[in-house]
Amino acid sequence: MNALPELKIAPHRESKITALKTLLADIEQNFAPAAFASSFGAEDMVLLDLIARHFKGIEIFTLDTGRLPPETLTLMQRTQTRYRINVTAYTPAPEAVQNYISSAGLNGFYESMAKRQGCCQIRKIEPLARALADKRAWLTGLRREQAPTRADLAESEFDAVHALTKFNPLIDWTNDDVWDYIRAHDVPYNTLHDRGYPSIGCEPCTRAVKPGEDARAGRWWWESTADQKECGLHTAASDFNAQATSSITKYASVAIKIIDKDIEKVIEKNIEKVRV
Ligand code: ADX
Repeated sequence: MNALPELKIAPHRESKITALKTLLADIEQNFAPAAFASSFGAEDMVLLDLIARHFKGIEIFTLDTGRLPPETLTLMQRTQTRYRINVTAYTPAPEAVQNYISSAGLNGFYESMAKRQGCCQIRKIEPLARALADKRAWLTGLRREQAPTRADLAESEFDAVHALTKFNPLIDWTNDDVWDYIRAHDVPYNTLHDRGYPSIGCEPCTRAVKPGEDARAGRWWWESTADQKECGLHTAASDFNAQATSSITKYASVAIKIIDKDIEKVIEKNIEKVRV
């Protein structure tokens, strides 16, 4: 006899799960090869549970930054054993890490937002580009409720940065929806969640939040700008275009300076010739 009382899911949540399964089936069938990016956070465990049990055609990968908390690594191991799945781990390019440490220091990211974003670039963004290189679609556990930066998320969008379709199947799930699912289906989760960590990233960049604090307040906590608490993994196409334009402008102005210098040299040479 089962000693545990059976946990029931509220009817409105059942309909969210049904809709989610329909979407996952559609992605598996019509967007192969598709891959789910899992950080092993609570929402990602909901998606992982469904994908690992019912939609095995969707690959699962993680970005192992090299600075993840031991609790996340333990969960990664536990999950692979429990579901009998392989989660592909993409790690940062060793030379890039070495260069960063030589120039900025191992924990140089505490010094400025630019240095922090530089670290995210090496440890997450570049490996993500590798993970998505041969894919037609990717899936995330992003939810609108998580942050002001995520309030306008769509369930699916064209990811112009990686040139493929991006699905955010949990956009309209609440925190309670996520935890209700985890408890009802006995899904393994990161033990840091029980210790005040609603959102978990790299170990040196994440801390527990105080009661009443924003769920992402513990991410890059030393930075004061709440509206920029993103690592860049989910930079919108519009931001990407803005960044690309600013880089082009920057490099174009450098190029113009080089050309100017060349012209100066030619003029100097011609003046010398005239003198001779
Ligand atoms: S983020 O700023 O670190 O990207 P968050 O932790 O809220 O924010 O994660 C949002 C989504 O990004 C996750 O649901 C997951 O799809 C993806 N993601 C974040 N970190 C990783 C990681 N280390 N590996 C794989 N996917 C990740």
